[in-house]
Amino acid sequence: MDALRRMEYRGYDSAGIALVSEDALVSAKKAGKLANLEAELEASPLPASHLGIGHTRWATHGAPTDTNAHPHLSASGRVALIHNGIIENFASLRAELETGGVRFRSETDSEVAAQLVGRAVDEGLSLADAMRAVAGRLEGTFTLVAIDVQTPDTLVAARRNSPLVVGVGVGEMFVASDVSAFIEHTRDAIEMGQDVIVEVAADRYRVTDFDGGEAHGKPYHVDWDLSAAEKGGYDWFMRKEIYEQPRAVAETLLGRFDADRRLTLDEIRISESELRTIDKIVIVACGTAFYAGLVAKYAIEHWTRVPCEVEIASEFRYRDPIITPHTLVVTISQSGETADTLMAVRHAREQGAKVIAICNTNGSTIPRESDAVLYTHAGPEIGVASTKGFLTQVAACYLLGLYLAQVRGTKYGDEIAAVMAELESMPAKIQQVLDRTDEVVALARELADRPSFLFLGRHVGYPIALEGALKLKEIAYLHAEGFPAGELKHGPIALVDEGIPVFVVVPPRGRDQLHDKVISNIQEVRARGAYTVVLVEEGDDEVAPYADVRIELPHASTLLQPLLAAVPLQIFACEVATVLGHDVDQPRNLAKSVTVE
Ligand code: AGP
Repeated sequence: MDALRRMEYRGYDSAGIALVSEDALVSAKKAGKLANLEAELEASPLPASHLGIGHTRWATHGAPTDTNAHPHLSASGRVALIHNGIIENFASLRAELETGGVRFRSETDSEVAAQLVGRAVDEGLSLADAMRAVAGRLEGTFTLVAIDVQTPDTLVAARRNSPLVVGVGVGEMFVASDVSAFIEHTRDAIEMGQDVIVEVAADRYRVTDFDGGEAHGKPYHVDWDLSAAEKGGYDWFMRKEIYEQPRAVAETLLGRFDADRRLTLDEIRISESELRTIDKIVIVACGTAFYAGLVAKYAIEHWTRVPCEVEIASEFRYRDPIITPHTLVVTISQSGETADTLMAVRHAREQGAKVIAICNTNGSTIPRESDAVLYTHAGPEIGVASTKGFLTQVAACYLLGLYLAQVRGTKYGDEIAAVMAELESMPAKIQQVLDRTDEVVALARELADRPSFLFLGRHVGYPIALEGALKLKEIAYLHAEGFPAGELKHGPIALVDEGIPVFVVVPPRGRDQLHDKVISNIQEVRARGAYTVVLVEEGDDEVAPYADVRIELPHASTLLQPLLAAVPLQIFACEVATVLGHDVDQPRNLAKSVTVE
C-alpha cells in the first residue's frame, strides 16, 4: 500500500491489489482514490502474503469503476494481472476470446491480457511462457505484471514502450513503474529494456526477450533521498517542488565544464562532426515541456544560427515533417514516458534524424530510445503540474544551445563562459524571487474568484505567458489564455473587460524596442479596464503608471529571464488552487505521466 501511495500521482481513478496466499488468489479493488481501497481492506482484510501486485489506474478504456479497476482476473480465477499502457488491438483479441466462450467482466483493454495469459496458463504454459506468448500478440504500449496461484513464489512482468524497473532487495524483490515505489526498501534498481520479460522471485530475477533469449537489464543506484519523495513540510508536492527550483537548476548545471572550461555533455553520444552537419533542429514535446522548447528556440537560434522549429509532439508525425539525417530532433520530457513524445521520437529516427532527449527520469523509455540524453537533475517531480521540471528543462536547453554553439564555433569560448557564468548565478536569483512570494500569495487570494485571466509576453516572455496560463488551467480549473503581447490587437483584445486580470511579462530594458512595445501593450489593456499584474525587472519604473500590481524580478538578460518570470506564475496558480480547495498535486482529469496517445 505504501508503494501504491507513491505511485498514486501516475493516475488515481481506481486502485487494486491481488495476493497469493495459502493456495488462494485473493484481490480487492475500488474506484476512486487509494483511500477507498484502504477503507475496503480495513473492512475486509486480505490474508497475509509474500507475493502480490498492486495498481493505481488512469482510465483510458472504460470508466473508472470497481469492475474496470486492476488487477484483472482470468476466467478460471488462476491468474491476476495489472497493465499500464494501451493495447491497441484489444477489440479483435476480445472478440476471439468471447468466441471461445470467455465472458468479460470489464470494459477495459487490459482484461484482454489477463484472459489471454490465463488461458495460456490453463492450457499448460508456465506463467513466463504464457506472458511471452501473449506479449508477442499485443500491439500498442504495455507494462504487464501477473501472478499465478499455482506458482506462489514468482511474478512475471513484460514491457513494451511503457515503464518498468526492478528493485533488488535483500531477500525481497520489487517491480514497479518507477523507483519511488520501493526506494525505502532498496536503492539498487535494474532498468528494463524494450520487449523484455522478467521473472522475479524473492532472491533472484531473470530477464529474457519476447523470443525467450537471454536479455539483461541495466543496474543503477537510485540516489534520490526518501525525503525527496515526501512533502517535507509543504502542503503540496507542487509547492515543495517550486521551492526546490534553485537546487534543481543548480544541479542541472553542475559538472558541465571540463578541465579546460569547455562544455561537456557526457550523455551526448553524437559526435561533434555529426553535430556540425546539422542544418535544422526540431524540438518536440507536449504541454509545459513544449513551452520550454519555445523558450529554447530563441536561445538556440541566437547562439547557433541554426533554424530551430518547435512542434507539439501529437501533431509532429502526422504532418509529414521534413526530417533528414541532417536534422537534429530534441525531445523534452520530464517523465520520459509521454506516449505522444515517444512516438515522435520513433518517427524521427525512422526518418534518419539524430535524437537528443532532455529528460528528468533516469531509465525511462524516451531517453532509452534516443541517440543521446541530457538529464535534468530535478529529482522526482510528484506534483502533476510541472514546475522544477520546467525550469530545469529550460536550463538544459540553454546548455544544449551553448554546447552546439561551442561545437559549431558560432560562439567563442569566452562568450559561452559568460553565459554559463550568468546561468550559474540564476539559482540564487530564483531564490530571491522565492523569498518575495508574500505579495504573489496575497494577490492569488484577492483574484481567486475571477473567472478568466490573460497572460501576455513577447519574445521569450511569450512561452512564459503560455506556461502561466496552463498552470492556472490545470490546477485551478480556471479559464486562462496566453498570447504574444503584439497579437492582442488582432482579436483577443476584445476579451479585455473591466477588471479582467492581465499578467504581463516585461523584458529587461535595453533590449531594443521590445521593452517599449510591451509597455504600450500594457497601456492598451489598461485603457480598457484590465487589472494589470506586471512582472518586471526591479528598478524598472517605466511601467509604474500602468501597473495595478508590480512583481519585481532580479535583473537577468533577456534570454535567461524565463528562469525567473515563471516562478511567480507557478506560485500564483498553486495558491489560487489552494484557496479554491482543489487537490493541487492530483488535479482532476490529469495524470503525471500521460502514457497514452
Ligand atoms: C505540465 O504541468 C503538465 N503536467 C503537462 O503539460 C506536461 O508538461 C506534459 O504532459 C508533458 O509531460 P512530460 O514532460 O513528462 O513529457
